Amino acid sequence: MVASVTDLFPSGARKALPEWPQGWYVVARSRDLRPGKLLRVTLASQEIVVFRTAAGRPGALDAHCPHMGAHLGLGRVRGEHLECRLHCWRIGVDGRIPAQQKTARAWNLTERAGLVMLESGGDRALPAAGEPDFLWTCTRPIDVGAHWHALTANAFDMPHLTTVHQRELVEPPKVSFEAGQHFEMEYVTRVRGRGASDRVMKWLSRNRIQARMRCHGPMVTVDTDLGFTRTAAMIGMLPTEQGTRLFGAFGILPGPLGGLRLAVTRWLFASFLERDLGFVEGMHLRTDVDDEILQKFFDYLRTLRRA
Ligand code: FES
Ligand SMILES: [Fe+2]
Repeated sequence: MVASVTDLFPSGARKALPEWPQGWYVVARSRDLRPGKLLRVTLASQEIVVFRTAAGRPGALDAHCPHMGAHLGLGRVRGEHLECRLHCWRIGVDGRIPAQQKTARAWNLTERAGLVMLESGGDRALPAAGEPDFLWTCTRPIDVGAHWHALTANAFDMPHLTTVHQRELVEPPKVSFEAGQHFEMEYVTRVRGRGASDRVMKWLSRNRIQARMRCHGPMVTVDTDLGFTRTAAMIGMLPTEQGTRLFGAFGILPGPLGGLRLAVTRWLFASFLERDLGFVEGMHLRTDVDDEILQKFFDYLRTLRRA
């Protein structure tokens, strides 16, 4: 359902964009969270410890031990528990502590497309792209000196498709959003650039690239239809002190030459995104831009509930 601006802000008041909306945050690549490993994450001033048990179950707990408050980031994984080093309480992924009344707060955590995703508040649907049987690969996380608002706005900034990506819109984009959930755009472009990835994309797609992008707060999903095949991407944006840590996963349909297709898909997506990263570094996003789609996008961001 598309909410109109008047419905959302009847008084005409414009809210600030939420820094930490409720929803799913990518906090690591699955391959970087090996059994026995733990890492510290801060989401909306909440300190959390994410770990993987010996049997491979991922867990996320409030970072301070419910006994006396020691930091569990200094703890260690023991079998299926995280052990606090101060008095050796052992906490399970569900927050339960054997032989103790107290429990630790356990956060919702899941893995998809090779990414570890943590839920911060609310019961927002888990962002998804591609099909359940898609094959996925992830790139190394990249630290960018820009706010996730700027990075997500870039995905829906139509004029930069020409100036940065040398793409041309074939027909006007279709835009919609569901208040508090996601913002969606569908569009068809053709390639005008002459770089190596442009040429390959042009040839593969017969120069008609259909894409559907969805923003779910600090995560953007992309589904592309190249005619003969489909691909997908999931881009997670974890706010950091310096800006944003970007996690990317790229997916393809299963089938012959999967490894090769996956490598080409990853290269095409990464080449596309690299162009953005070259220009958004250090950006201070302005929301007074005269652009109807972006204004709608900012209205969508303002509907997200704070964590
Ligand atoms: S503070 Fe963690 S076991 Fe005592
Ligand atoms: Fe872009």
